[in-house]
Amino acid sequence: MNTDEIRRKLLSWYDEQHRDLPWRKTKDPYKIWVSEIMLQQTRVDTVLRYYDRFISAFPDVVSLAEADEQTVLKLWEGLGYYRRAKALHEGAKEIVRNHHSILPESFEDLLGIKGIGRYTAGAIASIAYGEKVPAVDGNAVRVFSRLIRYTSCVDTSDGARVMWKTGTCLVDPKRPGDFNQGVMDLSNAVCKKGRPACDMCPLEGLCESSFDSLAEKLPVHKEKKAPVTECWEVTLMIDREKNRIAVIQRTEALLGGLWIFPLTLLPPNEPPDHYIGRARHVFTHRVWEMWITAQEVKEQDRTDVLWADAVTLNNLPFPSAMRIPLILARKMLEGEGIQEAGKRKKPSKRL
Ligand code: ADE
Repeated sequence: MNTDEIRRKLLSWYDEQHRDLPWRKTKDPYKIWVSEIMLQQTRVDTVLRYYDRFISAFPDVVSLAEADEQTVLKLWEGLGYYRRAKALHEGAKEIVRNHHSILPESFEDLLGIKGIGRYTAGAIASIAYGEKVPAVDGNAVRVFSRLIRYTSCVDTSDGARVMWKTGTCLVDPKRPGDFNQGVMDLSNAVCKKGRPACDMCPLEGLCESSFDSLAEKLPVHKEKKAPVTECWEVTLMIDREKNRIAVIQRTEALLGGLWIFPLTLLPPNEPPDHYIGRARHVFTHRVWEMWITAQEVKEQDRTDVLWADAVTLNNLPFPSAMRIPLILARKMLEGEGIQEAGKRKKPSKRL
């Protein structure tokens, strides 16, 4: 591996092509931490819609630590993978409690904070502190596996070790943060999943997969389990007199802390007789097929839920899975009649 040449070519490509992103205008380790957590499993375009607002609300680790979880989740609403927000919040509290409100100043010490793993510690330490450590996420694995023509599975302890070692050898000692972000930009613009643009790559000729079409087939991943489909009835219970709708706070690991409408698990292929809408949401390992129904209920008959008016509904954090139910719920609170979307037996009627 021609390390010097790879560093030189990647850094000059980065100098010319790098994206102008808000978290690249700072060396504040807290802000870089926030950006890196948001960017996990999430596209830059999406993160751009959240980052500035989050930083304005919580400009430093103390303001985040002092916030209540519902406020943090509201600012994360729609970004998904809410466990990230909760871990970030917990991490901020730990830093205030045990580290005099100062983020640890090395890769090793960052690893001591709950929720900061090797990737995040590597990204913060290299970008904010200039420490010579790699930041190896799934995108970097794609670049490195192609670069060294690694044809074994990357989702094993051996695979992870080889990828980390490749990153460690390659990262530029003088500009580690730019090098790591160069790898990120390369993975996004050139070394793409399935269809790499090898003819546009600054590492062409240095990459051991660019001379044939093997790059398209790398990295080799473990076969993924098919996601499980679950069918749910989502009930919009409305008290017409008080004009409030029933909502529930999740306590389960999936979407814990967020709010949803009452759910009832349905047997597969047995939708309710009448429904006013349908929705589908794909999580990492699960798919929710949802049939949305409406019911008139008196508040006093359901005391195990929160009865929310339109303002409360807007203030609570809801997951994207509830996007369509929320639209229908708002319409109901505005007094709009909702046309039945489907029925099994009776002719259509207005609710
Ligand atoms: N993906 C993860 N971290 C990133 C960063 N700092 N810039 C752009 N994309 C990223």
